[in-house]
Amino acid sequence: MAFDKRILCIGAGYVGGPTMAMIADKCPTYKITVVDINPARIAAWNSPNLPIFEPGLDEVVQRARGRNLFFSTDVDAGILEADIIFVSVNTPTKTFGQGSGMASDLQYLEKTARQIMRVSQGPKIVVEKSTLPVRTAEALDHILNSNDKGIRFEIVSNPEFLAEGTAIRDLQNPDRVLIGHHQTESGKVAGQAVVDIYAHWVPADRILTTNVWSSELTKLTANAFLAQRVSSINSISALCERTGADVEEVAQVIGRDSRIGNKFLKASIGFGGSCFKKDILNLAYLCQHYGLPEVASYWKSVVDINEWQQHRMVGRMLEQMFNTLAGKRIAVFGFAFKADTGDTRESPAHTVVRDLLAERACPVITDPKAMKEAQHDLADVLSLVQFSDDPYEAANGAHAVIVCTEWAQFRTLDWKRVYASMEKPAFLLDGRNILDLSALRAIGFEVQCVGKG
Ligand code: NAD
Ligand code: UGA
Repeated sequence: MAFDKRILCIGAGYVGGPTMAMIADKCPTYKITVVDINPARIAAWNSPNLPIFEPGLDEVVQRARGRNLFFSTDVDAGILEADIIFVSVNTPTKTFGQGSGMASDLQYLEKTARQIMRVSQGPKIVVEKSTLPVRTAEALDHILNSNDKGIRFEIVSNPEFLAEGTAIRDLQNPDRVLIGHHQTESGKVAGQAVVDIYAHWVPADRILTTNVWSSELTKLTANAFLAQRVSSINSISALCERTGADVEEVAQVIGRDSRIGNKFLKASIGFGGSCFKKDILNLAYLCQHYGLPEVASYWKSVVDINEWQQHRMVGRMLEQMFNTLAGKRIAVFGFAFKADTGDTRESPAHTVVRDLLAERACPVITDPKAMKEAQHDLADVLSLVQFSDDPYEAANGAHAVIVCTEWAQFRTLDWKRVYASMEKPAFLLDGRNILDLSALRAIGFEVQCVGKG
């Protein structure tokens, strides 16, 4: 079949895979190829067992794969034939050298840019899909357009706002799509080419265009604002626990103020995920770099509160459980960073397990989708941790249960059965406020949750 356009995405991860699957589904006359240097990941994208769990993803991939959606490890071939190249490689926090622990590690992005420059035989639009420090497009421009073949590359920024667990819904019906382009004639043409892709299914008034720097910075700002709301409500949760106020009541009432809004006000054991922390640290690093230390420390405090919130959970268990957890079996319900994903990156459960181990407790982890990831994350302490697919088995003989992920399955467990199998007194800390505490108390549990005295 002759395709109208050839689109390549470099990076077949949590963003590249679902985003391109949606574009392929909505634009059947475009050929979409997703490439990655990780052969196992590509093999999984080509198999019935996709490499990530995301509700609704299987159906979208099945409709398009082999028709106009292709997964491959041949990066060069993909570059050669593409008109538009989305770059969706990972941009983790740097762990070495200058900016270590805060700045973005841009080595994967730069390698990709150099490969595009080396392999290309004609002009292309290169789209920043990864989340990047503001002004990265300048560096990309510089590298790509330093080629000696006379080829002109145009850089467009198109950050992704999907959340894991709801990626398909978010992609299908986005609040907005953001496209940043240079304000030159060729920049406008390139920006319009990316607008044209989304216009296949996103209403025109939801496709917003800005200059490139605004687009890059908007992505970091959006994540910083979302994470800030979680840290704000979590900071109040601690005050609620001391004063007898109820954080859910507080959140519900402030959320009714239309200026505040009711989303992202759920108190928890802290936010996780691969991006909030890294993007805020990156934002803070940028502020420092541009001589704004006060702004940097303002944003950094959002991460500091989150870390404090995660660590204080085991402290609360310790206090309630007679100041010792040593040798006690503790069932950890959920290891994913949120429900409906198998992703465990920066999961608060990870902090909880490490804190339990520091107290010489014996954690037993159960999670409906993230067991493999949990074992991978805890590879250095595998002999100290147990894993069970069955929450009843995990809780059997335990002194306490701590709920770390808001999986729907945990709400509907037979909690009488869980209680009957546990050591007494049986303690429970609901780190997600998903359970009916009065029912649990009636069963006999000694219960704590987040933000209620
Ligand atoms: P990921 O780690 O799941 O995927 C990145 C992929 O890029 C990996 O499979 C890796 O092998 C591949 N890769 C790295 N270098 C490569 C190269 N030179 N050539 C080919 N492939 C290469 O990461 P992700 O979660 O998909 O995130 C990607 C970017 O999107 C990040 O910048 C992230 O901040 C941003 N983002 C992520 C989310 C999310 O929900 N995960 C949402 C919005 C934005
Ligand atoms: C977040 C943003 O929501 C996306 O818009 C963005 O594209 C993405 O980061 C990214 O750049 O990677 P994600 O991390 O997948 O998406 O999931 P969220 O739903 O934002 O949840 C993040 C964390 O905050 C989770 O651990 C969640 O449990 C926690 N959270 C969220 C709360 O504790 N309370 C809330 O009210 C909301």
